[in-house]
Amino acid sequence: MSQQTKAVVEESPALPPAPAPARLTLDGKEHELPVIVGSEGEVGLDISQLRARSGAITFDPGYGNTGACESAITFIDGEAGILRYRGYPIEEIAGRAQFTEICYLLIYGHLPTAEELKDFENQLTRHTMIHEDMKKFFEGFPSSAHPMAMLSSMVVSLSTYYPKEGRDDDLDLNVIRLLAKGPTIAAASYKKNMGQPVVYPRNDLSYCSNFLHMMFSVPAEPYEVRPVLDRALNLLLILHADHEQNCSTSTVRMVGSSQANLFASISAGISALWGPLHGGANQAVIEMLGRIRDDHGDYKKYVDMAKDKGSGFKLMGFGHRVYKNFDPRAKILKATVDEVLAELGVSDPLLEIAKALEEVALHDEFFVSRKLYPNVDFYSGIIYRAMGIPTNMFTVLFALGRMPGWIAHWREMLHDPRNRINRPRQIYTGPPQRPFVPLAQR
Ligand code: CMC
Repeated sequence: MSQQTKAVVEESPALPPAPAPARLTLDGKEHELPVIVGSEGEVGLDISQLRARSGAITFDPGYGNTGACESAITFIDGEAGILRYRGYPIEEIAGRAQFTEICYLLIYGHLPTAEELKDFENQLTRHTMIHEDMKKFFEGFPSSAHPMAMLSSMVVSLSTYYPKEGRDDDLDLNVIRLLAKGPTIAAASYKKNMGQPVVYPRNDLSYCSNFLHMMFSVPAEPYEVRPVLDRALNLLLILHADHEQNCSTSTVRMVGSSQANLFASISAGISALWGPLHGGANQAVIEMLGRIRDDHGDYKKYVDMAKDKGSGFKLMGFGHRVYKNFDPRAKILKATVDEVLAELGVSDPLLEIAKALEEVALHDEFFVSRKLYPNVDFYSGIIYRAMGIPTNMFTVLFALGRMPGWIAHWREMLHDPRNRINRPRQIYTGPPQRPFVPLAQR
């Protein structure tokens, strides 16, 4: 077992004692359900033996009330608006840490020492290049390809170049490769869209500056990364770094539970993130704000449309499965957005529309009673836009930020002795048995 693998094991705190089992009565027969208590006092009923003992399963579409694993990575209290990575509040991390430090923290379980961070960053720097042959994959994509499709395809393709994963050392190296090559692949996807030549990474730049260099450098013109851009990107990546069992992370765990390799599992997570109800919402927010601007800025009309269930329209960037209070990440971004735009000298009419929309929604009974607050995607797009990032790259940046979270969960699952292949059950509602009718008689 490598040093880094050991660290995860050593960090687990003692859990509070569990109370007496819960009792469930079904068809007059009583069943005991053991109770599990987490380190922040969250209570779960262990139903893993319920079907074997009673024949019944639990029913929870969308898994809103189902705990699929124990995890020591991220804690969220959605009612209180709390988000902590390995115990550290997001408000204390934001603006004070480097994204690379947070990658290390999430994946290996503790804050790195200066020496550990230097070594980690050095490894990330040395593995940024992708195999020259992989450039041929980019040649094959149409130039209009969505960069999320390219990112997902290229990440699973990494497993054709680095198939070894049997030993912890191989795995640790693949983790580094994924974090290091992610920005290179993402920037190359953008270059493909632009019809520009791929820009190679620079080893003298920080993780964020190197990405911006690969995005915005062109052979004809030297490109200097402005510190404000590096800072803004660093903050955005940190705010997206993990969010416990969300749709994409659960997908990574689901795919990984079959012992599919790291790259295949993360590629599946990238695909799950793409949807507009998840990470794709940051692109959808800007498209919605643009639509409102083009509609003479009539944001109230869109609030009314969102309240009308028949319209099929939702206020993108609003609401969250877990947060029933302000999303703490949105709070940080809202406080940052004016600062970044001012420093960049950008004035964006979409920001004014966003603020007005938020103000109306926060005081509207429909949104208040359903506890619908702006989420992380509501303000992130405005910052990306000001940074010169095109709209279809927003979700790619979400994916780069979420990479350490996905990796941390995948590794945690791998080392969990209770991990089994993920395989939910269902309540069958189709026809009962009936005789097959051959084609000639139909
Ligand atoms: N606009 C209008 N109504 C909404 C919205 C919205 N954005 N979000 C939820 N509602 C309503 C919903 O219709 C339902 O009403 P009712 O109880 O009368 O049927 C109620 O609020 C509860 O919503 P839900 O759909 O049961 O909530 P959920 O937990 O299943 O879905 C969500 C959460 C984030 C998918 C949803 O709020 C949504 O679609 N929001 C817009 C998309 C978005 O911003 N997604 C990014 C999420 S944050 C980034 C991430 O982690 O992925």
